[in-house]
Amino acid sequence: VTRSYNFSSGPAVLPGPVLRKAQEAIWDFEGTGIGILEHSHRGAAFTEVIARTEERARRVGAIPDDHAVLFLQGGATAQFFMVPQNLLGNGTATADYCNTGTWSKKAIADAERYGTVHVACSSEADGFTYVPEAPSWSASPTYVHFTSNETIHGTQWRREPEPPPGVPLVCDASSDIFSRPIDLAKYGLVYAGAQKNLGPSGVTLVIIRKDLAERGPEDLPAVLQYRTYVAEKSLYNTPPTFGIYIVGEVLAWIEAEGGLAAIAERNAVKAKLIYDFLDDSRVFRGVARPGSRSTMNVTFRTTDPALDRAFVAEATRRGLDGLAGHRSVGGMRASIYNAFPVEGVRALVDLMKEFELGRITG
Ligand SMILES: Cc1ncc(COP(=O)(O)O)c(C=O)c1O
Repeated sequence: VTRSYNFSSGPAVLPGPVLRKAQEAIWDFEGTGIGILEHSHRGAAFTEVIARTEERARRVGAIPDDHAVLFLQGGATAQFFMVPQNLLGNGTATADYCNTGTWSKKAIADAERYGTVHVACSSEADGFTYVPEAPSWSASPTYVHFTSNETIHGTQWRREPEPPPGVPLVCDASSDIFSRPIDLAKYGLVYAGAQKNLGPSGVTLVIIRKDLAERGPEDLPAVLQYRTYVAEKSLYNTPPTFGIYIVGEVLAWIEAEGGLAAIAERNAVKAKLIYDFLDDSRVFRGVARPGSRSTMNVTFRTTDPALDRAFVAEATRRGLDGLAGHRSVGGMRASIYNAFPVEGVRALVDLMKEFELGRITG
């Protein structure tokens, strides 16, 4: 079977060796005679899996000891309310949000249910094509929230915003988690749905400073309080066991590939191949502004939606799958997460060249 180049924005391409190993583990997990899908979350085998997954996450991400590593459910979307529910709490506080796209807007809409939201910066008037430089914070925000990579619009913060002193920084890193090294000591809380850079859908990684996990109102249902998961090491109830196993294997793969510095270098090379082509192209153009371009989701288009559709159809026919832009914005989007191979990027650039030549001469 020939596998396609999968440009999907998530669930997305996973490392080949991880998938092969998982095939085996589904039948017989590491010689236990029981498949990984069938092991009890309280048994010795899974206890070892979740412990080593956390250890690897700590090593790969250089996660400080005062941060807890949690494996939750509900996707990043559940964090849109869980963050304000736990950190804003009593309904009178203000949180500052950076509005850089569709996902930021959803996070803002849910935060507004729990307190006041001050939008500290926004690129909405310009179609979310860039990351605003200098947020203007409110007088005393409870926390500051930003989306490090906007999956739909294809923009990415070069570095994190600087919150006012002592104010926790909260980040939705769903589409660029572990794509480059970041200094987690600067962050109060980072969350990410796993289905782009970490594993399958169904597990959400939360990295939270332990003191923040204790701030939530204690009258919330137990599964909605971060402190529950810290105290029970993500085993308060049945966690997404298979997803956690795969995340552990993806993290082992990242380590074998040389860690986040090496991964970041490779991601930069892949993204540059496409952006360099787009900058010179007479038919295609990049959507995001140069200083804000994402290394994970490259958004581009022609001047004609019909031509965009023709390109996507031709790409699909050639085994380059998932290049249609998000349904809300159209155009094209190449999602090139950690596990996406450079050969696939070259295949895309070659196809764009061919398509362009056909348009110019044809
Ligand atoms: C940046 C970002 N935040 C949040 C989400 C929502 O994640 P989930 O579907 O896991 O709830 C996505 C999904 O693509 C995303 O890209």
